[in-house]
Amino acid sequence: MRNEFGSVELLQTFEDLSGNLTVFEPDIGFEIKRIYFLHGLSSDAVRGEHAHRELTQVMLAVAGSFTVEMVRGGVEKTVTLSSPREACLIPPLTWRRIANFTSDAVCLVLASDVYRESDYIRDRDEFDSISRL
Ligand code: TYD
Repeated sequence: MRNEFGSVELLQTFEDLSGNLTVFEPDIGFEIKRIYFLHGLSSDAVRGEHAHRELTQVMLAVAGSFTVEMVRGGVEKTVTLSSPREACLIPPLTWRRIANFTSDAVCLVLASDVYRESDYIRDRDEFDSISRL
């Protein structure tokens, strides 16, 4: 994957008349230590609204669609994930806000480490001051 925040990679897909098979065999520079997914989301749901100190994530819309608004190093980027053939890189120190979920959306996240609350930056002011360092 391109090592740039919010970059979206098109995944290799094997198409068949009976359906498609999409492969994520990542060259992402980290070992996947955790997989989680958001599902059953309401259309007005807003998730994320935090950054991680060290965690790197790759995000996919394996079903439905949603938007990912990101801020990193003072740069803003918004990506709409609407195809299971796309994977979006979210490096550390990226503020993310995930919204506009369709009712069938499933947001799959591949993460470089196990869950640690201490890795979260949940306060936007703290994130902004760390970003300015
Ligand atoms: P959070 O990461 O804040 O969710 P989102 O960014 O989607 O809004 O996590 C929601 C809750 O789930 C919070 O109480 C922490 C818990 N959680 C775990 O225990 N393990 C995990 O791997 C994750 C991602 C969350």
